[in-house]
Amino acid sequence: MNCRKFIDKKIKEIKKIVGSGKAISVLSGGVDSSTVTVLGHRALGNRLKTIFIDNGLMREGEAENVVRVFKKLGIKVEIIKAQDKFFRALKEKTDPEEKRKAITEVFYGDVFKDVLKKGKVKFLLQGTILTDIEETVAGIKRQHNVLAQIGISPEKEYGYRVIEPLKELRKDEVRKAARTLGIPKSITERMPFPGPALAARIIGEVTPEKISIIRNATSIVEKELKNSSAFQYFPVLMKDKATGIRNNKREFGNIIIIRCVESLDARTATPKRLPWKVLEKITKRITTEIPKVTRVCYDLTPKPPATIEYI
Ligand code: XMP
Repeated sequence: MNCRKFIDKKIKEIKKIVGSGKAISVLSGGVDSSTVTVLGHRALGNRLKTIFIDNGLMREGEAENVVRVFKKLGIKVEIIKAQDKFFRALKEKTDPEEKRKAITEVFYGDVFKDVLKKGKVKFLLQGTILTDIEETVAGIKRQHNVLAQIGISPEKEYGYRVIEPLKELRKDEVRKAARTLGIPKSITERMPFPGPALAARIIGEVTPEKISIIRNATSIVEKELKNSSAFQYFPVLMKDKATGIRNNKREFGNIIIIRCVESLDARTATPKRLPWKVLEKITKRITTEIPKVTRVCYDLTPKPPATIEYI
């Protein structure tokens, strides 16, 4: 792929579609939405509004980081707080696909629709990539940003048009385009993180309390494994509980599984052979810093037969 040619072509296309109108881009802080935002900004300047929807499911400091990085790129990001709406929609949902669907519906049909209505905006710039479309269409996993390809017309359902400049690209090509656009390494080389965010790291119902546990555990795991050179590493909160002892008392506490894998493209993966010392440190930190967790396990399953994520 010739990145410069691709970038010029997409900027022209965005200009042509939006005309003299306005568009919105929703940043998650990942490489796809960041690339689309910078492309959109180059094409439309101030006629592109960039927002970050705080759905309550993000990692520690994620919103602040996004605002800081984009400020350096000359792009203002507005934070829309919508935690309550997402938690309400996720209440009592335990099935993985139902949880994903709930997040999609609140995002597109409620929070985002409101933002567009208020701003009189008719276009959404979105970072859907080829793999998202392929996985959703094949029925492997419904990606929250895939609509038209599974028969949902955003124009009819929600009243706005979706522009997807990256839909022919795979992740490595998006990273190349991002580097060419001058997006910093903290974004272009970022470890993959799922669209449903920390909701994807909880088995069963997602509640603010469980999100707080998994958010703390995620900060610990990301810090301790930063230099592991693994493809992806994260904790997952189980639904079952296990007996533990705290302050000489029996406690039926939470179980956290640590996943750390090596992989090239996420299609297959092998568990990383982490030093015992590192695993012990993570276990100690999680069980002392997060009192509701009494047990930490390490997952040794390759993909296949397991997938990388748990839901
Ligand atoms: P699996 O679990 O299918 O994951 O082996 C492969 C890669 O895809 C990421 N992943 C997701 N990304 N929404 C996303 O945006 C999702 O629902 C989702 N599920 C998995 C996963 O983190 C891994 O890198």
